[in-house]
Amino acid sequence: MAKLDGKAALITGAAAGLGEGIATAYAKYGAKMVLVDLDPRVEETAQRLRAEYGSEIITVVANVADRAQMDEAARKGAEAFGAIDIACCNAGVCRLAPFEEMDDATRDFHIDVNIKGVWNTCKAVIPYMLKQGGGSIVIASSVTGDIVADAGEAAYAMTKAALVGLTKCLAVEYAGRNIRVNCSQLGYARTPMVEKMAVESNPENPEAAIAAIAAGVPMGRLAKPIEVGELFAFLGSDESSYLTGSQIVIDGGSTLPETMSIGTN
Ligand SMILES: NC(=O)c1ccc[n+]([C@@H]2O[C@H](COP(=O)([O-])OP(=O)(O)OC[C@H]3O[C@@H](n4cnc5c(N)ncnc54)[C@H](O)[C@@H]3O)[C@@H](O)[C@H]2O)c1
Repeated sequence: MAKLDGKAALITGAAAGLGEGIATAYAKYGAKMVLVDLDPRVEETAQRLRAEYGSEIITVVANVADRAQMDEAARKGAEAFGAIDIACCNAGVCRLAPFEEMDDATRDFHIDVNIKGVWNTCKAVIPYMLKQGGGSIVIASSVTGDIVADAGEAAYAMTKAALVGLTKCLAVEYAGRNIRVNCSQLGYARTPMVEKMAVESNPENPEAAIAAIAAGVPMGRLAKPIEVGELFAFLGSDESSYLTGSQIVIDGGSTLPETMSIGTN
């Protein structure tokens, strides 16, 4: 029996990048899924996973920033599968700009998608989890904001750090009702988001920006989306039954070095 057999999971941002990697891991471990994305290509992710794993999947085109749309996505999932056991709050955005040039609309865009989007997803799924006696929520925070930051990430870093607070509060609030809430703190994975950040950082040579990220990671590379998916599958499953309110750093060691110059290798 696979660790997610019989579980129904709602995954946001599943059309591309990490969300697709998370959905792939969930398919591999037997989950039924509601895949949510603003981008209608989320149906292509679903078709691939149905073909490869025989997964039961419905897709919903919705904006996580819109509470009514997320309520409807959760309702459709519960109607299709009879429950929502797991929510992976993965959808997020990142736009780089120097702080004095970052306008309020850009700030609010990050707040709407990264904070309110996760808030809305939790609001939408928790009533079903309470009704069925439990569940697991996994939130995509980041090492950015809570642990480290690069210049130009003020809005992104602020919103990702906020998700650690939301994780901890929901974890303690629902611990007695069998809903666990944990967050991932990823370093860098190569996804459309990071490719765009590389263009914003070095328009002439974005590949150099990606190579420089890898060079700063002790493991010498970025994460693969499926590696993040494996963490989300563990946190969603009963294998992590005593974990709640945890922040799990998954970064190939990128936040470890104290200097780039001292040491014996
Ligand atoms: N890639 C990384 O290195 C990295 C590192 C740390 C944290 N994260 C976090 O992981 C999550 C996924 O990142 P990614 O790199 O896969 O991003 P991505 O931009 O490559 O993919 C994000 C997906 O979310 C969807 N999406 C965006 N806004 C949405 C909205 N309002 N409603 C519904 N769907 C929406 C997009 O259409 C896309 O399919 C984000 O929350 C990001 O902050 C990523």
